[in-house]
Amino acid sequence: MSALLPVYPRLALDLVRADGCWLTTSDGRRILDMYGAHAVCPLGHAHPELTEALTTAHRTLDFYSNSLHMAVQERAAEAVLGGSAHLSHVHFVNSGTEANESALHLARRVTGRQTVVTLAESFHGRTLGSLSVTGLSAYRGRVPLDVPASWHRMVALGDEDLSAIDHDVAAVLVESVVSLGGVRMPPDGWLSKVAARCAEVGALLVLDEVQGGVGRLGTWFGHETLGVRPDMVTLAKSLGGGFPVGALVVTPALAAKVTHSELGTTFGGGPMAAAMVETVARVIRRDGLMDRVLAIEARIRSRLAAHDDVAVRGRGALLGIVTPAPAKVVRDALLARDVIVGTSSDPHGLRLLHPYVLTDAEVDVFLDALQAVLAEVPRG
Ligand SMILES: Cc1ncc(COP(=O)(O)O)c(C=O)c1O
Repeated sequence: MSALLPVYPRLALDLVRADGCWLTTSDGRRILDMYGAHAVCPLGHAHPELTEALTTAHRTLDFYSNSLHMAVQERAAEAVLGGSAHLSHVHFVNSGTEANESALHLARRVTGRQTVVTLAESFHGRTLGSLSVTGLSAYRGRVPLDVPASWHRMVALGDEDLSAIDHDVAAVLVESVVSLGGVRMPPDGWLSKVAARCAEVGALLVLDEVQGGVGRLGTWFGHETLGVRPDMVTLAKSLGGGFPVGALVVTPALAAKVTHSELGTTFGGGPMAAAMVETVARVIRRDGLMDRVLAIEARIRSRLAAHDDVAVRGRGALLGIVTPAPAKVVRDALLARDVIVGTSSDPHGLRLLHPYVLTDAEVDVFLDALQAVLAEVPRG
């Protein structure tokens, strides 16, 4: 009997160790991590510079509340901005959903409006605010959430009819790549139309880059590849390389409107989290890992191009692989061959959220296993 509340459906693996891109189970199996701990470990596991950063931070200044100035937080904020041409300030929180809550809060307060528009295929987190604007019914349908139309509207990804974005709208919140909703990129030019519509009616554009940020799409912020300049961006997952941390990133215009105490959280951007953020960002930039994710993507696409019935969606280290077989069957068969991948709401779509540090040999371990599995699993 487990004392843990049974909220997570768990795979039958007893994990005891993780290093690099590999997991080790209690029965000694070594499993290739193509799921990247759900997009959390861009540098793989137990990266020595992260171990050093965390232990040094703990020894030097373990924690203090946000009522005092701490230089490590300033450095982490600069690292998050990465010289962005249009974003200027960072507010650290502890998770993706909290970053989205902060964005929604600020958008409503600054615009004086209430309505938020999101995508029908979206996922934005499990706290009640983020859940109330999540599109995927499998998640929002679980609790009674009688969200009034004045609070939330939905549009479908790629929909040319943007009339839902009107003068009542405080913010449009969009994932840079719809991830759980099936790994779908916005169609070319569509986000620019959304941005133009937001500008026209005075709504704020917020990009949820909880999965697509921190270099995962081959640029530090996902929106750099998508041709838009959002008013706010939310980050989490990869940002702390395994340490829980999220961030709200905003433009100077918004930063100028923020008042004391309107956002805040006890743990947000504590010194250990900040040291991890600083280190993750430094290593990704120094080691050319944003180019590396694109090289890994190219290797995967080129091998799978030989399969007419397999499609690859997404970008960089956020890829959906759609096969004729049910995704859960393929996932289980890959696991039997010691490779772990994710799934999504697409019943035929696998989700790859791998570390950026995968070697070519490791990519080939995955591709060999996938090819063997595709040859053996039933379709349909
Ligand atoms: C796009 C997106 N937004 C928000 C969240 C919520 O993040 P967290 O689980 O850290 O609250 C997730 C989590 O999977 C996500 O994928």
